[in-house]
Amino acid sequence: MIPLDHYEKWLPFLKENAHFYLNKKEHEEFGLLSEEEIKRQLKDLLEKPIANFTVVNELYFRARWAEVIRTIYHGDDLKLLEVATGDADMIPQVMSCIYPGSQYITANMNKILNQSLLDKTKDLHLKMRVIEDDAAYIEKHIGREYVDVIAFQHAANDVIQAILCDREGIDTIYSDWMETLPKMIEILQKEVKDNTLEQHAKTPFLGLLKTLSGVLKKGGVIAINHYMFQLDLDWGYPADLFENMIPMVRQWMAGLDGCEEIFLEEFDPKWWIFLKKN
Ligand SMILES: C[S@@+](CC[C@H](N)C(=O)[O-])C[C@H]1O[C@@H](n2cnc3c(N)ncnc32)[C@H](O)[C@@H]1O
Repeated sequence: MIPLDHYEKWLPFLKENAHFYLNKKEHEEFGLLSEEEIKRQLKDLLEKPIANFTVVNELYFRARWAEVIRTIYHGDDLKLLEVATGDADMIPQVMSCIYPGSQYITANMNKILNQSLLDKTKDLHLKMRVIEDDAAYIEKHIGREYVDVIAFQHAANDVIQAILCDREGIDTIYSDWMETLPKMIEILQKEVKDNTLEQHAKTPFLGLLKTLSGVLKKGGVIAINHYMFQLDLDWGYPADLFENMIPMVRQWMAGLDGCEEIFLEEFDPKWWIFLKKN
């Protein structure tokens, strides 16, 4: 696997900046880790499919998204839309650190995960808005050219999985996402075997990106990242598809008007796409 990032850069950075990105309880937990344990956890995170959920992971992803936001946004009134957040709170956490009082919006369909997200973020310094709807309908909720940044934090795969479930009449809104995952993986296996994934998912996925570009301000950026989870692989997620999600999406996006891909230094194009609105 191509590493997600440069271990040598992040090891000293995370140790020096942990107090900034972690809350008191998390920072105490981080403080209990030995130097060797921090090194091992960071290496595992960057160089293997993710198998453990640790405070080092949280710290790295928050710091990484801080870098993304600071690189692509230079104003003082940030409005960020995240698509398909689930209950992964790294972006609201980091926004509360680097832009307290800014506006975080998520289009996130699953009811159970939304409740969990709200619980995790209840003490943050943010104007938080959870839209329990398909991101394909986002324009009716927020209007055109409203947000500065749109983030897909490990979400391209989830959006594609939800599109495929919808085709097959499988509920992803009221159900438990993890309980549905084996079924999603079964569908993906069949799509790969029959070579039908592009035929079934590309058009709705591109339609979604087109709608999203409508709610993005001119000059704004859609940032998409990806990495792998070991659990999904163990459950039979087609490994080649999981590893090459970003190159596949990049190829699909070639048909998208009004945006162009930009490349940021030190963000590997295997794991990141940045689309700038013209
Ligand atoms: C597993 S969670 C996402 C996890 C997260 N992105 C992460 O960092 O790993 C899946 C979420 O994606 C949401 N989702 C998938 N497609 C969506 C869409 N088109 N619009 C809104 N939410 C969507 C689901 O409703 C669910 O809440």
